[in-house]
Amino acid sequence: MSKRRKIAWGITGSGEKILETVEIMGKMKEKYKDQFDIRVYISKSGDQVLKYYNLSNTMETIFDKTWTEINANAPFLAGQIQLKKYEFLLIAPTTSNTVAKISLRIADTLLTNAAIMGQKTSTPIYIMPTDFREGIVRTKLPNGHNLDIKVTKQDADHVKNLQSMENTFVFENPDEIPRIFEKHV
Ligand SMILES: Cc1cc2nc3c(=O)[nH]c(=O)nc-3n(C[C@H](O)[C@H](O)[C@H](O)COP(=O)(O)O)c2cc1C
Repeated sequence: MSKRRKIAWGITGSGEKILETVEIMGKMKEKYKDQFDIRVYISKSGDQVLKYYNLSNTMETIFDKTWTEINANAPFLAGQIQLKKYEFLLIAPTTSNTVAKISLRIADTLLTNAAIMGQKTSTPIYIMPTDFREGIVRTKLPNGHNLDIKVTKQDADHVKNLQSMENTFVFENPDEIPRIFEKHV
């Protein structure tokens, strides 16, 4: 078997799009098991949110191992990305917090650091923001109830700023993830 290429998949603390994303993760893991070694990196809040949405067990079933943020450089993802150990970095879903930090060049968390350092060495970065365009979004709470959330102009502006960055590809929905994998096969 040829050597599988590594992919870093970051999960931030987002309830929005998390269910659909985890479903796609399972599909990508299975479909590309011979080509790609998907390594999952979870922000501290991501870890909490997966628990709230009862998805921690599902993640453990899909992946033998995942890596949870200790700080910006532990686990040492940014360095590995700069050393070109990863084919690409995908952050999905991406909170408005992580989007804003990348937009403003604040690299103080595991995934913002990985993205910003990765941009400096031209590793492709794919980002799926929860707050994509200005307006009202209906999101599902961990208890199954709906909550209407306002996507602010400021958050939408940060998304636009990311879209203007080199080697940075911003997309809206989890069903666009398979195309990213197809592109890199
Ligand atoms: C249950 C739950 C759901 C959340 N969903 C979202 C969300 O959909 N979008 C978002 O931007 N933040 C959401 N948050 C807030 C983030 O987790 C919070 O801003 C955190 O600081 C993000 O950190 P991170 O970007 O490093 O993961 C949620 C928080 C909780 C507890």
